[in-house]
Amino acid sequence: MTETQSQSQWERVGGAPAVKAVLDRFYEGVLGEPQLAGFFENVEVENIKPHLAEVLSVVLGGPGLSPDVDLATYLTDAHARLGVSESDYALTGKVLLDTLAEFDVPDDIVETITGALAFVQPFVVAA
Ligand code: HEM
Repeated sequence: MTETQSQSQWERVGGAPAVKAVLDRFYEGVLGEPQLAGFFENVEVENIKPHLAEVLSVVLGGPGLSPDVDLATYLTDAHARLGVSESDYALTGKVLLDTLAEFDVPDDIVETITGALAFVQPFVVAA
């Protein structure tokens, strides 16, 4: 269906409502990992889901971020003081991919996400 090709992957997974369902699972997964939960200990609960929503929006090309935003600077600034290690990052990516598998997200979208996770890793992981 050609219409499919003009839709963003964000739209194809079902837009905001589907993403909300994925987020709820992603949230449980992240907070269920002792290695990751600590990062969010001092973060307001209502700020955690928006954080995860931003992650998904960045990797799926959703509407969350203005194209004027310089992603490298934005993400580097947001994480600079957190000390996220490569292992923390890899585990977060695994939780995300496991969640997407549960929702039967199509392979091409999973590939996009894997690529985006690799692309933004240097901005999130502490130097
Ligand atoms: C694809 C990977 C990621 C993206 C796109 C992303 C995106 C973001 C964004 C946009 C912010 C700023 C939110 C704001 O200022 O309102 C942020 C903050 C934050 N990120 Fe990430 N993040 C990613 C990975 C991670 C990982 C792996 C961790 C730790 C395990 C993490 C922990 C945090 C924390 C604790 C904050 C501060 C939240 C707060 O104080 O409200 N992020 N992230």
